[in-house]
Amino acid sequence: MTAFLKIDAVTKSYGAGPAVRSALRDVSIDIQRSELVAILGPSGCGKSTFLQIVAGLIPPTSGQVMLDGKQVSAPPRDMVYLFQQYTKSLFPWRTVLQNVAFPMEMQRTASQRLVRARCLEYLAMVGLGGCEDQYPWQLSGGMQQRVAIARALAAEPRVLLMDEPFSAVDALTRLELQSLVLDIWARQRLTVLLVTHDVDEAVFMADRVAMLSARPSVVASITDIDLPRPRDTMGTRESARFLSLRHGLLDTLLHPTAHVVGNV
Ligand SMILES: Nc1ncnc2c1ncn2[C@@H]1O[C@H](COP(=O)(O)OP(=O)(O)O)[C@@H](O)[C@H]1O
Ligand SMILES: [Mg+2]
Repeated sequence: MTAFLKIDAVTKSYGAGPAVRSALRDVSIDIQRSELVAILGPSGCGKSTFLQIVAGLIPPTSGQVMLDGKQVSAPPRDMVYLFQQYTKSLFPWRTVLQNVAFPMEMQRTASQRLVRARCLEYLAMVGLGGCEDQYPWQLSGGMQQRVAIARALAAEPRVLLMDEPFSAVDALTRLELQSLVLDIWARQRLTVLLVTHDVDEAVFMADRVAMLSARPSVVASITDIDLPRPRDTMGTRESARFLSLRHGLLDTLLHPTAHVVGNV
């Protein structure tokens, strides 16, 4: 069976001639429909580059990305990208509702009444019922990132790409948003690629964790996260299996040379 989302021998270099810098080298990962895969790696290893290539935002130097059997060469309609910094991705001159409606307005497939109803449904889902007429800058950081999540989901994508989506919010909000995204993922059976440098987050959320090495990044390991679902904010993190998975991944991140690194 071919994978729903197939990343096939993707290599990316920036620059040319003597200034060429290699970011990714021969990265291959097969992702099944409805799977939640975390991409973990040290800062600067090429995680954002990887996700932008998967999204069709930048071309790989070689290799390809296939979504449901079709090559991704431009951002596909049914794929959405949740950026790290909500402050840069929300429109300050638009209300919360108008922000969430934006992708649907671009698609021009639904009537105004339907767009409004769907926006309100997703705002309620992320716990922002009643905030639709406020502006993003009137909300806390965590609430703004909830708006960004609602906007991503209201477009009803099949694939959700997230680049360190919780790194700009406080620690407690981060835990809440991780569980919120897991709830929605379980309900909607989305395929999710989550880029993070946070080992706990990767283990808590993912079905599998793909670890990238330092630059030029190759896939250093792929780890099955065999923790039961639904995952519990406290119980899961306190389980012996969680701690053992976390230990293994953290050890590879902290002591990369002690581990054999190669493509899998
Ligand atoms: N547009 C670009 N032009 C040149 N180099 C880039 C560009 N984007 C990223 N890089 C380089 O590629 C490497 C990986 O960057 P990035 O994908 O942002 O890493 P990460 O998200 O893992 O922190 C870094 O060395 C960075 O400087
Ligand atoms: Mg990054």
